[in-house]
Amino acid sequence: MNAALEALWRPGSVSAITVTASRTYDVIIGQDLLKDTGACVRRLSRAQTAVLVSDDQVHALYGQAVADSLAKEGIRVLSYVFPHGEEAKSAQTLFSLLEFMAEHGVTRTDLILALGGGVTGDLAGFAASIYLRGMSFIQLPTTLLAAVDSSVGGKTAVNLTAGKNLAGSFHQPLLVLCDTNTLASLPEQEFACGMAEVIKYGVLSDPELFRLVETQDAKNHLTQVIGRCVAIKRDLVQKDEFDTGSRQLLNLGHTLAHAVEKCSHFSVSHGAAVAIGLAAVARCAYAAGLTRESISERLENVLVRYGLPISCDFSNEQLCQVILTDKKRSGQSIHLAIPRQIGDTFLYTMDVDRLEEFYSHRCR
Ligand code: NAD
Ligand code: GLY
Repeated sequence: MNAALEALWRPGSVSAITVTASRTYDVIIGQDLLKDTGACVRRLSRAQTAVLVSDDQVHALYGQAVADSLAKEGIRVLSYVFPHGEEAKSAQTLFSLLEFMAEHGVTRTDLILALGGGVTGDLAGFAASIYLRGMSFIQLPTTLLAAVDSSVGGKTAVNLTAGKNLAGSFHQPLLVLCDTNTLASLPEQEFACGMAEVIKYGVLSDPELFRLVETQDAKNHLTQVIGRCVAIKRDLVQKDEFDTGSRQLLNLGHTLAHAVEKCSHFSVSHGAAVAIGLAAVARCAYAAGLTRESISERLENVLVRYGLPISCDFSNEQLCQVILTDKKRSGQSIHLAIPRQIGDTFLYTMDVDRLEEFYSHRCR
């Protein structure tokens, strides 16, 4: 952990994971941490003003606690609140935030705080990467998905009319402060969305994590579960920050998931789509002889246990047509993350002509 932060918490009361990428930063996970936001900002930056970015729902729940903690350290707080939902992750909201900061005289040495889920983190992170050619930002994730995935690794983006995350940047945060108490107010469905990613990490490279969420209630082990996921993501980001190789393993289950989201006009949530994608790739990889062992029974049981779907009604043809237009396709081939067994996944390059036959073995 950064030495400047060490005195803030009793030893063992928080879990800290350090990410070393184009910037080195800590991911601090623990209970009741939002009240320490101001102290962290004071110790890590010279900011006089903090721009607190959150959606209306999150702001109503946690905005005041963060603002109070900043005010206690004499930091001016400017709150920028936007309507919740994926539609707000747009160029329009991005430019409205940039104009807001310019109007209020925000400088490069000031700081953005992204308080919320992945929508807030992606939007605020992108704004931080382009305002005055770049300023620092801190991630304060309040969804399980943001805690285990989007707040770590520096991918920022907004959606364009043609598709999701089509404009963005790599911009690592100054700090990720993950207060697990905030997850208590998360609707069940949002918690389940995060669990799809947690289960993905288990299949990807952590059989113990998989067993933990398979045999116990993840809600009772949040710091441990989030910590293990962040450590896996940290390792992949450190090896391949700009996503040209092994970081693509994080897309396990996501190739089909993106197609399911698109075919449903985004009425199927990202987490539900990832669950369908994970179940599908496991079945299809086994049927195609790419793995010797079937993980489908264990995987599908754990997905269902957390209230996630494992199938959908879209036809193979519909889904594969969408996959072929995916930005992750490279020429005539596509890279698929294939689970060899629980905790071991590899990247496999498949000719796009084989896709429809490959996915024909999924559960319908
Ligand atoms: P989100 O930010 O929209 O949050 C989901 C909903 O939960 C919102 O309605 C929000 O108001 C509400 N909410 C958030 N925290 C809450 C809390 N503690 N209590 C009650 N309600 C709360 O969505 P998300 O699922 O967190 O993130 C999805 C986004 O993340 C997508 O845009 C996706 O593209 C992006 N993403 C980015 C990365 C990355 O690496 N940058 C990775 C995965 C996903
Ligand atoms: N969520 C995938 C990545 O960060 O690469």
